[in-house]
Order: sequence, then C-alpha cells, then structure tokens
Amino acid sequence: MNKEIRLILVLFISLLFGACAPEESIGKAVPEKIRVTDSNETVKIGFSMDTLKEERWLKDQALFKKAVEELGAEVEIVAANGDDALQLTQAETLIQQGIDLLVIVPHNAEATAAIVQKAHRAGIKVIAYDRLVKNADIDLYVSFDNEQVGEMQAESILELVPTGNYVYIGGATTDNNVHLIKKGVFNVLQPAINRGDIKIVYDQWTEDWSPEKAFLNMTEALAANNNQIDAVIAANDATAGGVIQALEAQGLAGQIPVAGQDAELAAAQRIVGGTQTMTVYKPIQTLTQQAAALAVRMAKGEDVTTVKYVNNGKIDVPSILLTPIPVTAENMRDTVIADGFHTGTDVYGAVDR
Ligand code: GAL
Repeated sequence: MNKEIRLILVLFISLLFGACAPEESIGKAVPEKIRVTDSNETVKIGFSMDTLKEERWLKDQALFKKAVEELGAEVEIVAANGDDALQLTQAETLIQQGIDLLVIVPHNAEATAAIVQKAHRAGIKVIAYDRLVKNADIDLYVSFDNEQVGEMQAESILELVPTGNYVYIGGATTDNNVHLIKKGVFNVLQPAINRGDIKIVYDQWTEDWSPEKAFLNMTEALAANNNQIDAVIAANDATAGGVIQALEAQGLAGQIPVAGQDAELAAAQRIVGGTQTMTVYKPIQTLTQQAAALAVRMAKGEDVTTVKYVNNGKIDVPSILLTPIPVTAENMRDTVIADGFHTGTDVYGAVDR
C-alpha cells in the first residue's frame, strides 16, 4: 500500500476515533489548551524527528537529548524514516504517553498540521524544530535563517563564477526549508541573471533529499548542456555529494565550483580536498541548547515571546532564527574544527598534526 494511501487511511482512522474518543482518553487530557504542570515537576519532552538519514540529524538527536537531560527534564525521541503516516502514529503515541511538550521536525510541512491539532487537543504545545509546520497554530519555530543559508551559498559561488552556466539542485519540496534556501540563492543571483551574466541552465528539486536522485539530476544537467556547466549550487551536502559523483564521472570534479550545506564530514573532506567549494555550517550545539531550554520552559507553563515571526500560511509564528556560517577551506579550522563539530584528523586525515 503506498505511503499516501496509508497516510490518508491513518488520518481517517485517527480522526474517526479522535472524534468519538472522550477528551480524557487522549494522554493526560484536561480541557483544551490548559495544561498545568508544577514548575518543580519533572517535565517530559517528546521529540518527533523526520529522519536520521542525514549525518546532522544524528547530532541533533544526541545533543538535544543531552541538553534536555542537563535541564533535569525527560525526553523521548522517535524518528519516522521519512514516512508521514509513521510520524503521525509516533506523535500520537508520544501524546498518549503524557508528554508535556512536543518538538517536531516535520517530514511533510503540510501533513504535520494534523499532529499539531492533536497535540493542542491534548493541551500540549508544539515547537517546530529546524523546519516549519505549515498552516497550523504552531507555538514556536526554532531554526537557522534558511534564506541566509541560500544567500551565503550564492555569494560564495558568484564571487568565483561571475559569468556562465549555473545548475541549481534543490532539496525535497515536502520540506519548507527548500523554498527559503532557494529564495535566498535567487536573492543573490537574480541581478546577475537579469544582466545576462549568468544563466540557470538546469533547476530541479530532489525528492527526499536523496543523493542518488541528485546524481541522476546532475548527470541529466551535464548531458543536456554538453558538460558546459560553470557552477552548481546544491541545497545540502548530501545532494552536493551526488552532484560531485556525476562530475567525477565526466572527469570534471574539482574544476566546477559546488556549494552545499550542513558541514557534513564528507563535505568538509571534499572542501579541503578541492572537489567541493563551500558548505554552510549550522552549529547544531546552539540549536539544540536553545530548543531544549525553550521546550522545558514552555512545558512548565512559561510563556515565551520572540522578536521575530515567520508566517506559515495560517499565523505569524513566534520564531528564533540562528545565524549560519559559510565555510571554505580557508576558515575550516576557525569554525567547524574550532567548535569540535569535526576533528582535524577526521577532516584532514592523519596528516593533520
Ligand atoms: C533540511 C535541513 C538541512 C538538510 C535537510 C535534509 O531541512 O535544514 O540541514 O540536511 O533538511 O535532511
């Protein structure tokens, strides 16, 4: 049974049962939206993750757990392997287990609205982590400034390649971040496009952020343009890895600048090795510490106010947007290594004395 039909079925069944289940049967329900926890009580945070497929999510999982526990709270972490129906049932289970607050990384920005509704019906607030939930009354959004991620990628590449043919390899359209990143990229590239200095000769999304799909897209881009490509911007390092494999197959790796995101180890190695130009480093340590502190405070009933808001199609969501960092071979040591995100030996190999 395919994913979409399974999701519709699970939604239908849970709505059917949700609708007829008396309030008190859903977790420790109290009348809607009022949930009282004694500030000395140990609160329990639920963390519903989309996937652990990309390297960064393993860091998010470990560092968020550490940060919440250091604050004296409990945390239950689940990952849905990119499956919307599974993310829904996992979240329902967390709610029934009596969590005090739900933190969520949505696989599908739209489909996750149903989870927010269920949590609120049980009096549980929801924080969108790294990725926004669309069209839902989300209580807080904590992420990096994803538009700035795109701007940093494009600025680095445009400096090296002010004229020529560009390829854009976007991420998964189920993820709201891909639209913000792409908006940032074109904020920077559009004037050069308007001047006719650069031409976007290929522009494609990548289903589920799959490196294999990115490889196929880049192979198609090279074939369609007779290998006349001067620069590539890929939405993250996993897709950049697929792009560089396709360039390698044409003997072009290291000759065409490529941008990525996430400061994955493999990307850091490619950057110091010369086949990738840059990545955008997002200190996960800071994101997890901020999200954990906010989650515990809100779980204890504290109101959190922000200066920034991001519209999700339904409301202006109170938001905390952290600043990302562009990384090239020049500042690798002062950023990713200095923070201990990767060790020098891991990035440079045994030569790193
Ligand atoms: C995005 C995230 C990126 C990236 C991607 C794939 O939402 O911001 O860091 O890795 O998901 O999981």
